[in-house]
Amino acid sequence: MGTGAGFGKVILFNEHFVVYGLPAIVSAIGKKTTAIVEKRKGSGTEMTDSRPETPGYKAEKLKEQQESLQRMLQFMNVDTEHNHFVITLAGDLTAASGVGASAASCAAIARAFSEELGLHYSDEQVNQAAYEGERGYHGTPSGIDNTAATYGGLIWYMRRTESQIMDRMQLKKPIEIVMGDTGIVADTKTVVAGVKERKERAAAEYAQIFRNAEQLAQDAKKQLIAFDLPNLGFSMNKNHQMLQQIGVSCDELDLLVDLALDNGALGAKMTGTGRGGYMVALTPGRDLQERVAMEIERKGFQALRTTIGT
Ligand code: MEV
Repeated sequence: MGTGAGFGKVILFNEHFVVYGLPAIVSAIGKKTTAIVEKRKGSGTEMTDSRPETPGYKAEKLKEQQESLQRMLQFMNVDTEHNHFVITLAGDLTAASGVGASAASCAAIARAFSEELGLHYSDEQVNQAAYEGERGYHGTPSGIDNTAATYGGLIWYMRRTESQIMDRMQLKKPIEIVMGDTGIVADTKTVVAGVKERKERAAAEYAQIFRNAEQLAQDAKKQLIAFDLPNLGFSMNKNHQMLQQIGVSCDELDLLVDLALDNGALGAKMTGTGRGGYMVALTPGRDLQERVAMEIERKGFQALRTTIGT
């Protein structure tokens, strides 16, 4: 039996922009997906998906999940003709849009196969296998999700054609955040394609937004290192506005952002694909975190209380 895990993530700055090579900042959250792989006699694979989920997520992603698994099996040279593999997914990361659920499951599956088959994969090999798996979910992943899922921690990330740039960042201490779930399952492929289309149509306007986003990531990096939380929160708000400008937010996400800010969050933005999925709010200290989370729950949404920078 082989076991493995992958981290859930929150993108703090520049989702979508990262697809075009701009810098982004991502942090693991204290939730993981786990995988168990058992080799048996026979052929083929079977998967039991016991992850908690936003209702409808697993059914909606089933086809993509199957394609993702096939890609990974091919990448890892797994012989499913002469072996039967039973794969079980579990863990405390909710399978939902915006928390890196697909990437976390890919990293967990790669690690579990590596252990079961004695492949001795390094983290980089796990990351590459997980990237292949991510391609099953959407054609052109930037690689930020699988990198966060594999390595954990707080990461400065840039996509490059040949290799990625990944710098680990250290925080003075972990910061409490709240993530609010819209309950809407988003399709990354469609949302990413929409940005591409609008960017081509309004090239000059988008060029300016992209320049602003690049500068913002540089500012945010300094604010994180200096532990300047008020300005970091302000930068998150600005990033949310940019994501609104490129058309990837939605009413429910905007509502959650406003709710968090009205209740004292230092900053708030949508996170991940958008058009559903999660909002993230900067809520240092247990009291502020609880206040924001409770207000989100009072409005009927799920709230996740967690930290970044651990
Ligand atoms: C999805 O978690 C993040 C996106 O930027 C897509 C990607 O980076 O591949 C929307």
